[in-house]
Amino acid sequence: MRMILIGPPGAGKGTQAQRLVESFRIPHISSGDMLRAAVAEGTELGRQADGFMKAGKLVPDDVVIGMVIERIGKPDAAGGFMLDGFPRTRPQAEALDRALADAGVALDHVVLIEVPDDLIVERIVGRRSDPETGAIYHMKFNPPPPEVAGRVVQRADDTEEACRARLEKYHSETAPIIPFYEGKGLLRRIDGNAAPDQVTARIERALA
Ligand code: AP5
Ligand code: MG
Repeated sequence: MRMILIGPPGAGKGTQAQRLVESFRIPHISSGDMLRAAVAEGTELGRQADGFMKAGKLVPDDVVIGMVIERIGKPDAAGGFMLDGFPRTRPQAEALDRALADAGVALDHVVLIEVPDDLIVERIVGRRSDPETGAIYHMKFNPPPPEVAGRVVQRADDTEEACRARLEKYHSETAPIIPFYEGKGLLRRIDGNAAPDQVTARIERALA
């Protein structure tokens, strides 16, 4: 299964991917997680990406495209993958298309998780994650268990200001790729405004 998760910041892409990859047994490839790892390691890629990410801007296409195309060429992604956060511009979508065509494979599904803008900021500023396991929590909607609560961290771009910038970029740069996939018959629209379990069930139904 080769699939993409698209949606605004805080739609639940990471949350759903962590649940779905277990049943599909494919790697979860998150461009945001890859970039954050590069920032944490202080690599040249991370140095280039850091300022864009903190400000809620998109990292330039030429940086991100190479990084993700190389990743999906790794052996563990040969049988399928779940892309989260990539592509998010038209040039990225076209580059992915070309890379898959060159490899003689095709996408199966593009899952769009839709959540209204007015719910996004609360989801984002309340998010915390466990640096040891990568598990995603929310201080109100999905609080960490007591043994994890002492070590959770907040992302540098999870401020209200950066969140609003990210939302704006989503509407101006990413939403325009939705018709591109709709035209190919790959788009599955999911209402993401429900409890995580319900959203998972909706996605599983749409992919069945
Ligand atoms: P990225 O890491 O991809 O961030 P994003 O797209 O803004 O999405 P988020 O990770 O914030 O949200 P999510 O949908 O994964 O939600 P989550 O499940 O965590 O990108 C970060 C930055 O990197 C970008 O701004 C850009 O700078 C750069 N970048 C990355 N990819 C790029 C690319 N391709 N091109 C250029 N630049 C790129 O959930 C959020 C919160 O809500 C959590 O607290 C969770 O517990 C809670 N929650 C989840 N589901 C529910 C629910 N159903 N009900 C209630 N709460 C819920
Ligand atoms: Mg995410």
